[in-house]
Amino acid sequence: MPPPPTQQQQQHTTPGRSRARRVAHRTRDGCVAVFANTLCSVLLAVLLVAGVALFVVWLGLRPHRPRFTLASLAISGPVPGGQVAFNVSDRNPNRHVGIYYEGATRASLLYYDALVASGPAFAGAWYQPNMTTTSIAGVLDVVGPRTADASWPAFSAALRSGRLPLRLQLTTAIRFRVNVFHSGRQRMHVNCDLFVGADGNLLPESVGVPCDRYF
Ligand SMILES: *[C@@H]1O[C@H](CO)[C@@H](O)[C@H](O)[C@H]1NC(C)=O
Ligand SMILES: *[C@@H]1O[C@H](CO)[C@@H](O)[C@H](O)[C@H]1NC(C)=O
Repeated sequence: MPPPPTQQQQQHTTPGRSRARRVAHRTRDGCVAVFANTLCSVLLAVLLVAGVALFVVWLGLRPHRPRFTLASLAISGPVPGGQVAFNVSDRNPNRHVGIYYEGATRASLLYYDALVASGPAFAGAWYQPNMTTTSIAGVLDVVGPRTADASWPAFSAALRSGRLPLRLQLTTAIRFRVNVFHSGRQRMHVNCDLFVGADGNLLPESVGVPCDRYF
């Protein structure tokens, strides 16, 4: 609890306060006058209508995040040492909003926490116009797991059994564009959970699965 004001403080602040109160009184008296009162109401109404209009415009233009689905993925050659080719479909669902992808888009393939492959998926920045679909495709070198790794026994057993769970991760940064306005830049992670068979190809159940996005 703050201590009560001392005598000195009260003496010091009283003249200023009462002057402020007199000014406030005069101001309020002015606003209570009929003309000012009407003006206040009109201003309030205009503000309210403008607010509602802005909200409706925002609802229509509010950017939606791009949608990703896994089109294909195939591991060829030995693990490690082979290659993995992937293809993710990327849809900009916005009617009026374009999306800038800034910097490099990186791709990683993981078996739980173990890195299977990683590399650049898109080298530079690019722009995706409204209502368009594009593909993010690439080929990565398979670097793991190695036979000495703790994850190797489970990895090779799952591959042999014909149902190896993997996660393809894309990391990028996006910026929305509405006409000449740009949003702030935000990092985006895309996770596609998938299964490959003993031949290294995507199982049919994983073709076209939507990927999770988070910022
Ligand atoms: C990726 O998949 C799309 C649609 O299935 C296809 O049109 C495109 O050619 C593929 N890209 C590559 C590099 O395979
Ligand atoms: C993309 O946005 C522009 C500007 O808002 C608009 O004129 C155009 O029709 C849109 N394209 C599509 C395919 O909706």
